[in-house]
Amino acid sequence: MTYRHFSHAVGLAEAGADLVDETLATNPEAHLVLATGSSPLGLYRELVRRGRRWDRAWVTKLDEWLGLPPNDPATCEAYLRREAIGPLAAPEERYLAFDGLATDSIAECARVQRALCERPSVDLAILGIGRNGHLGLNEPGSSLHPGCHVAALAPTTRSHPMLDRAGSPPTHGLTLGIGDLLSARRILLIVSGDGKEEAFRSLNEGLVTTSLPASFLHLHRDVVCLSQAS
Ligand code: GLP
Repeated sequence: MTYRHFSHAVGLAEAGADLVDETLATNPEAHLVLATGSSPLGLYRELVRRGRRWDRAWVTKLDEWLGLPPNDPATCEAYLRREAIGPLAAPEERYLAFDGLATDSIAECARVQRALCERPSVDLAILGIGRNGHLGLNEPGSSLHPGCHVAALAPTTRSHPMLDRAGSPPTHGLTLGIGDLLSARRILLIVSGDGKEEAFRSLNEGLVTTSLPASFLHLHRDVVCLSQAS
């Protein structure tokens, strides 16, 4: 894992945007996995500020809360459409996303898994570490799922700021699995925001443990970790 530390959010956002630009300059049809939350927000806004257009890129949404309608502002869907897909003009037919309102959530995970396998391999996964060390909604526990699955949300995740105004706060979510993330050619991990110190300290120990899902990134040979003190 390559670490770069920033004292300001702007520096981190620019470095993250440079990495995305580099990926799309090499291959304008690159496949990107996108996280939501506060960590990648500055990066997406920097790309929008640069006037970038992702009109040939493939995009996959990392995760989604279960049971919220897609137009609920608390959803990952609404966030990504507002901050990335819309302003960066990513093509609808190349966008893959969990439907948080699917009646059969297990079948929905199987659908996304199938579609993921049929698409070009993921070139860059943009991830944020959760306060409890989660990636997407891969929560700490005694085991981790390699593929797309329905996840029971940890208490810290249920109090994520995105859910502050959610009508009825979700208890579960749909997420790509750890194996899906490790299959990406390159991973960008962003560590920023309040309450990440403990998770970051544990990550820096360099061991791999299911009690810190982000530690599985130590098994990947091309991870860039951009961090910023809160
Ligand atoms: C939530 C989101 C993830 C995000 C994570 C960290 O679980 N669904 O996509 O990566 O939280 O969020 P933040 O960057 O706001 O700490």
